[in-house]
Amino acid sequence: MTRHHHDTHADAFDGESARRYEARTSRLAWVYQAIARRIVPLLPEAGHLVDVGTGPGHLLLAIARLRPDARLTGVDVAPEMVRLANARADDAGVSVRVEAVVADVADLPLPDRCADLVTATMTAHHWPDLTAGLAEVARVLRPAGRLVVIDRRGTGPALRSAIAATLPGREVHRDIVWLRGLPAYRRWTIGQDRRST
Ligand SMILES: C[S@@+](CC[C@H](N)C(=O)[O-])C[C@H]1O[C@@H](n2cnc3c(N)ncnc32)[C@H](O)[C@@H]1O
Repeated sequence: MTRHHHDTHADAFDGESARRYEARTSRLAWVYQAIARRIVPLLPEAGHLVDVGTGPGHLLLAIARLRPDARLTGVDVAPEMVRLANARADDAGVSVRVEAVVADVADLPLPDRCADLVTATMTAHHWPDLTAGLAEVARVLRPAGRLVVIDRRGTGPALRSAIAATLPGREVHRDIVWLRGLPAYRRWTIGQDRRST
């Protein structure tokens, strides 16, 4: 039987594919650095950031370098991605406060209300159930916590309605991120305070 759509979330990024993804995206370090610079003002002093679908941890490590005060947790369903992210944290000497764990976004091994900021870059369109994933994100976010989703343009409508269902009452901001003149991805920021976005 040929691989079908459902396989993509669990297997498509594991093993050799994870290593290929890391090699390909390592050239995009500047993109993750640019995203990290835009995101760090949303993280309070000594705050806890959770990066879901962290992959090899490019964003996780870019943020960790900018914010020595922060604690960071990466989550990914693919064990090889988690291994790569933890290896990056080791190399950077930050593994005491940066840890990646294997889990599905729809079943996060984290307590309620533990995160000041949740990030999800280029991963939401892979989740088999966007609403189930965002419901877990809503559970682990502190009441004043923020969610930043960066994803493909086409994911927008589904994301908007899933956000309305799981994070009611939160403001939703949407804009295009311009990175050195390239309109890279669309960004959705969900939070309560417009000023710092
Ligand atoms: C395109 S990569 C993006 C990785 C990283 N966020 C980045 O921007 O480089 C998508 C990642 O989402 C992960 N992923 C897909 N479905 C997931 C799920 N249901 N729960 C957690 N992670 C998931 C994949 O394993 C993969 O590492």
